[in-house]
Amino acid sequence: MKKIVLVTGASSGIGQATAVRLAREGHHLVIGARREDRLAAVAESIRNKGGSVEVHPLDVTDRADVTRFADTAAERHGRVDVIVNNAGVMPLSRLDSLLVDEWERMIDVNVRGLLHGIAAALPHFQRQGGGHFVTVASIGAHGVVPTAAVYCATKYAAWAITEGLRLELDPSIRVTTISPGVVESELADTITEPGAQEAMRAYRADSIPPEAIADAIAYAIGRPPEVDVNEMIIRPARQR
Ligand SMILES: NC(=O)c1ccc[n+]([C@@H]2O[C@H](COP(=O)([O-])OP(=O)(O)OC[C@H]3O[C@@H](n4cnc5c(N)ncnc54)[C@H](OP(=O)(O)O)[C@@H]3O)[C@@H](O)[C@H]2O)c1
Repeated sequence: MKKIVLVTGASSGIGQATAVRLAREGHHLVIGARREDRLAAVAESIRNKGGSVEVHPLDVTDRADVTRFADTAAERHGRVDVIVNNAGVMPLSRLDSLLVDEWERMIDVNVRGLLHGIAAALPHFQRQGGGHFVTVASIGAHGVVPTAAVYCATKYAAWAITEGLRLELDPSIRVTTISPGVVESELADTITEPGAQEAMRAYRADSIPPEAIADAIAYAIGRPPEVDVNEMIIRPARQR
């Protein structure tokens, strides 16, 4: 069945690969992020392959922006079937570097942005009597490593919020947490602390393409309505 699928952070990496993959499966994609030129390029590549997509520039830290994202899609298409809350940032650093602005940025995008996505889609899911939340968390939701305390905290929060949704909501609404390991993307580009940059270069030597995560998301979305894939961890086979 063709679904109306919203993806945040679709201008690069995992969000882009997910949009491309789901469009290939015949779903209609509504893709959001801040970089409009990059969103337009993703949309063009989807349309060139016969896919159906619309672009909706947004900043997930702005609640009104994210509300409009879901409301506009619902007005145009009569429903919203899936929201993939994927947008995230990862400016890693040691706590004693006191890069407080970067801590706050991670909380704003990775936690508040997720909450804004949930608040935007939930009324539509409840009105329709169905829907699917997909949260892109991280293996950072399952363990802490040095330089990643705040990032991991935001991903533990994403995991907890998504699990809370699963427990509280009507079973007609499905809930999936996707926890990637090291994936090729632009995520590490936001690191400003030299020590964390160096550590990340070594840590990210073995990585898997974002399409591996898109495959997992497509699998969860593609199960029948009574099957709820709650969590998947997908990491490079070499990653420990
Ligand atoms: N790559 C990995 O190894 C890995 C591992 C575990 C989890 N993850 C998670 O996967 C998700 C996607 O990351 P990625 O690896 O694909 O990195 P990426 O290539 O840097 O993509 C991040 C996406 O988030 C968007 N974004 C950032 N801030 C935003 C904001 N304020 N409003 C709207 N969109 C925003 C970016 O778009 P704009 O800049 O255009 O807004 C971009 O599309 C993140 O949640 C990340 O934590 C990644």
